[in-house]
Amino acid sequence: MIEVCGRVYPDARPWTEAQLTSHLRVFPDGQFVVEEIDTGRIVGMAASLVVRWDDYDFHAGWREWTAGGFFTNHDPEGGRTLYGAEVMVDPAYQRRGIGKRLYKARRDLVRRLGLRRIRAGARLRGYHRHAARLAPEQYVERVVAGELRDPTLSFQLREGFRVLAVVPSYLANDPESLGYAVVIEWLNPDL
Ligand SMILES: CC(C)(COP(=O)(O)OP(=O)(O)OC[C@H]1O[C@@H](n2cnc3c(N)ncnc32)[C@H](O)[C@@H]1OP(=O)(O)O)[C@@H](O)C(=O)NCCC(=O)NCCS
Repeated sequence: MIEVCGRVYPDARPWTEAQLTSHLRVFPDGQFVVEEIDTGRIVGMAASLVVRWDDYDFHAGWREWTAGGFFTNHDPEGGRTLYGAEVMVDPAYQRRGIGKRLYKARRDLVRRLGLRRIRAGARLRGYHRHAARLAPEQYVERVVAGELRDPTLSFQLREGFRVLAVVPSYLANDPESLGYAVVIEWLNPDL
């Protein structure tokens, strides 16, 4: 997973073994990996935790939502929101439906646990290409309208998520999003 992370985000610090181990300790059911059967290679993963949404500032950054990436704030008693901390697929394996399967596994988990919703911060990966002429809100409006394509948000919109807000300073030192993300939501249709 650490190697995949290095390929997906070459400019960022990858997940550490200590963080990944902590995810499995606090919420094993919330962690998914995709393994290629023939080679045993890990080619994708999704990492989540349960939070009590109202305990946080709506504009909190990734670090607060994930307790610095360790998920020690996981709150299965009080929480009704699955927080999507990470979904990534090895670049060599993208566009084969693996991402879709990971999102489906997450939705199935939310229904199984009877949680209210999935929320996540989706960093605006394509924003740097438009930042000179568009404010982040304008960029998001165009992506939602289908006039621009963002490599991550366009995919999430097609997966049934909607945008709730634009958040600055979500991820520090991210050259693609310039720190901007949107809070996205999917509601459990059973409730
Ligand atoms: C976002 C991400 C997880 C998607 O993973 P993926 O495995 O490529 O996703 P899928 O293959 O299921 O779908 C991607 C696209 O490929 C298309 N696709 C799926 N199977 C396909 C196939 N066999 N042939 C061609 N296209 C296909 C899908 O329809 C989808 O198109 P769309 O974006 O126009 O809707 C992946 O691009 C990624 O890891 N990005 C970097 C990390 C990131 O930004 N993660 C989000 C956290 S904020």
